[in-house]
Amino acid sequence: MPDEENTKQDTDRDARVFALYEQLLEMEQRLIPTGLHVFGRASSAGEQADLFKMIASFDRPEHGIRALPQEIVGDAVRKFLDRGSEAAIRFCEGHGLGPELTRPVFVLLETVSTKLKTNGEVDSLIRALRGEFIEPGPGADIIQNPDVLPTGRNTHAINPYSVPSTAAFVRSEIVATSLLERYRSENGRFPEAMALVLWGLDNIKTQGEGVAQALWLLGVRPVRDALNRTTSVEAIPLGELGRPRIDIVMTVSGIFRDLFSPTVQLLDKAVRLVAQLDEPLELNYVRKHVLEQIKQEACTPDDAAVRVFSNAPGNYGTNVNFMVMDSQWEREETLGDLFVTRKCFAYGRDSQGRAIEGREARLAMDRALSRVEATYQNIDTFEIGLTDVDHYFEYLGGVSKAVEKRARAKPAIYLSDSLSREVKIRSLEETVRLETRTKTLNPKWYEGMLKHGFRGVAEIENHVSNTFGWSATADAVDDWIYTEVANTFLFDESMLERLRDLNPHSAHALAQRLLEANGRGYWDADTEVLAKLRDISRSLEDQLEGVA
Ligand code: BEZ
Ligand code: MG
Repeated sequence: MPDEENTKQDTDRDARVFALYEQLLEMEQRLIPTGLHVFGRASSAGEQADLFKMIASFDRPEHGIRALPQEIVGDAVRKFLDRGSEAAIRFCEGHGLGPELTRPVFVLLETVSTKLKTNGEVDSLIRALRGEFIEPGPGADIIQNPDVLPTGRNTHAINPYSVPSTAAFVRSEIVATSLLERYRSENGRFPEAMALVLWGLDNIKTQGEGVAQALWLLGVRPVRDALNRTTSVEAIPLGELGRPRIDIVMTVSGIFRDLFSPTVQLLDKAVRLVAQLDEPLELNYVRKHVLEQIKQEACTPDDAAVRVFSNAPGNYGTNVNFMVMDSQWEREETLGDLFVTRKCFAYGRDSQGRAIEGREARLAMDRALSRVEATYQNIDTFEIGLTDVDHYFEYLGGVSKAVEKRARAKPAIYLSDSLSREVKIRSLEETVRLETRTKTLNPKWYEGMLKHGFRGVAEIENHVSNTFGWSATADAVDDWIYTEVANTFLFDESMLERLRDLNPHSAHALAQRLLEANGRGYWDADTEVLAKLRDISRSLEDQLEGVA
């Protein structure tokens, strides 16, 4: 073999080994909940080590606190927990980091540590039931904002006029850019239209990062009025933006609609502003699509520019999760149709300034979704991910399924991880794999759950069913995932015994869900595997019916 080819093979191999190493590191460093919160109980020291590591790894420029470098943060936190702040500061000094840099970090950790020891949840609940005053506290992610402690306070939200905050807008540029670059690297061009999911609680936690990402994709920046309220937007000139403006379809939760009414107006205003800019159509996809639609359907410019959708006033949720969990569908497209039925209510203001407050706009939503090439949701917390709750698949999965039928092509589906050191855009499939490896199939995670007995088994089953939700809505689950779930929880005899004893209902539901995954074509399993599963399911059923 010529030398050149040898060298190329070596380089390829090195690149593959390095990519593998990076993936392993990503999994190792991922923070996962290792058990459920028990109301009224303070967390244990063991649970705190990982949390402290994350808190110490987060830059807080607004408080003059720099993150500890990755190479020493683990050891420094261990030192802090074993021997206290001074020992940890000396340890860092030994690694060339002066006390002026590290003291603020350990002062913060001490405060967090003290606050974690107190837990006023039960007390506050009783006082609240008596109608007494409960001290307010911010609602946020504990790593981003440790001021959420102590728990047991009256969580307050946010002033919607402050959204997006300056910091959130700055941070979101790189997320929007990385998202578009990821799509471009896979498709050779930018997407003309994307669908975004916006949630209320997430935008409270991040001061509007999801909102800011939408504005960046459109190529506009927020403008504050004389009262410092974000009530308007201005276009970022194309020369400065350096790329086309992307057409954005926003599906917002009922909670977002209720909490962020001025923000809903802002997003709608942003789309209408962009649609009116006199710019080349290949650099302004909003304008391109609005003009196309007016021409094709003889509709008004107002109708062609509707992009902010939510439930009918007073309604919440997509119900896609209920339909999936109850196995109440035959064709997958029903799930996407249900999403549109629930979410096709337009919000904003028309060109005459008249409020549109949840006007049914099914045709407008169908049209807007028919152009979508990528769907996206921002994930901003380590506490709740794709498989922890059924809401991610009901929203992001639901909208993706709706796009698939209307655009006659499956969209690229992305998620971001804006809490990590570096902004990371992952495909849905990558995120499902990462969640499965770090949670559902990770002994550290499931043993943590099993300590909670009955509820813990129910959580394991929930994770498998939520994973199944990603098969139903997006076909995003590899066969090996179902195979390993079966091996880990049902084909391991001692594990099956534990699940049987703790919660036979959930163990049975788990076996049934795996059989359903196979039955619906999401899991290509061997005949013997299926026979074994049916046996297990039957014996659990007998146990539940008191036959065995
Ligand atoms: C929200 O915060 O908007 C939200 C919370 C849970 C499920 C769906 C949406
Ligand atoms: Mg498959």
